[in-house]
Amino acid sequence: MPRSRRWTSGAIARAALTVLAIFVVEAVVCGVSAVAPSALLLLLIERTTGSLPVRAVLVGVAVIPAYVLFALCLMTLSAASTRLTGARTPTDAELPIADMSWPLLQWARYMAASHVVRVLAGPLFRGTPVWTVYLRMNGARFGRRVFVNSLFLSDHNLLTFGNDVVIGSEVHLSGHTVERGCLKTGRVVLGDGVTIGLGSVIDIDVVAGPGAQVGALALVPKHSRLEAGQTYVGIPARPAHPPAILGTK
Ligand SMILES: CC(C)(COP(=O)(O)OP(=O)(O)OC[C@H]1O[C@@H](n2cnc3c(N)ncnc32)[C@H](O)[C@@H]1OP(=O)(O)O)[C@@H](O)C(=O)NCCC(=O)NCCS
Repeated sequence: MPRSRRWTSGAIARAALTVLAIFVVEAVVCGVSAVAPSALLLLLIERTTGSLPVRAVLVGVAVIPAYVLFALCLMTLSAASTRLTGARTPTDAELPIADMSWPLLQWARYMAASHVVRVLAGPLFRGTPVWTVYLRMNGARFGRRVFVNSLFLSDHNLLTFGNDVVIGSEVHLSGHTVERGCLKTGRVVLGDGVTIGLGSVIDIDVVAGPGAQVGALALVPKHSRLEAGQTYVGIPARPAHPPAILGTK
C-alpha cells in the first residue's frame, strides 16, 4: 500500500526554489544560444538592399540555417549547464516524490534541461551523429558508431552503450521509473552491437550482452539480463529463438 505523505513546508520551499532555478537556467541557456543566430539575421536585415519582397525572401532563406545554429548552441550550452549545476540522475536511488529531497530535485533539473533540448533540437538531429554527441556531452557513456533514432532516452548519465549500438525510432529507454509515489533509478548497460527495435520499452537496471537484439514493440522489464547474441521479442520480452527441447522446434 502506498504511504500517504503530506508536503512539508521545507518540501514546498525546495520545490519552489528548483522551479525558479530551472526557469533561470533555461532562460539563460536558450537566450545565449539565440545570440549568434539572431545577430546573423539582424546583420542580414541591415546589410541587404533591394525591394522588400527580395529582402524578405533572403531573410526567409536564412531562418532555417539560423535555427540549426541555435539548436547546435542549445545542445552544447544545455549539456554544459547540467555539468556546471550538478544536475543529474542519482544512481540506484529510491526517492519518495513527496519528500522533494535535493537528489530528487537535482534529477528534476536534469530532466527539464534534456526536455528543452529534446523539444527544440531533437527533431532536427535524432538518428544522426550530432544527437549521439549531445547525449555524450550530457553524461552518457557511449562507444563508437552509436545511433539513437529516438527522443525518448533520458537519465543520460546512467546509460552505458558499447560500440555499434542502434536504438530504433520511438524507443523508450531511461534510467528512472516512478512506482507508488517513488522515483527509482538504475543503470542501463548495452554491450557492443546491441539493437533495440522500434517502439520498445527498456526499463531500469537492464543489462544486454554483446549482439543481443530486442524486437520491435517489446517490453524489457526492470532488472532484466539479456544474453549475448540472443533475440528477444514480446511483452514481457522472451527469447525469440528458444533452444530446441527434445525434438520440438
Ligand atoms: C525481432 C527480430 C529482429 C527477429 O528477426 P529474426 O531473427 O529474423 O526472427 P524471425 O522473423 O524468424 O522471428 C522469430 C520469431 O519471433 C516472432 N517475432 C519476430 N519479431 C517479433 C516482434 N517484434 N514481436 C513479437 N514476435 C516477433 C516471429 O513471429 C517468430 O515467431 P515463431 O518462431 O513463433 O514463428 C525482428 O522481427 C524485428 O522485430 N526487427 C525490428 C528491428 C528494428 O526495429 N530495428 C531498429 C532499427 S530500424
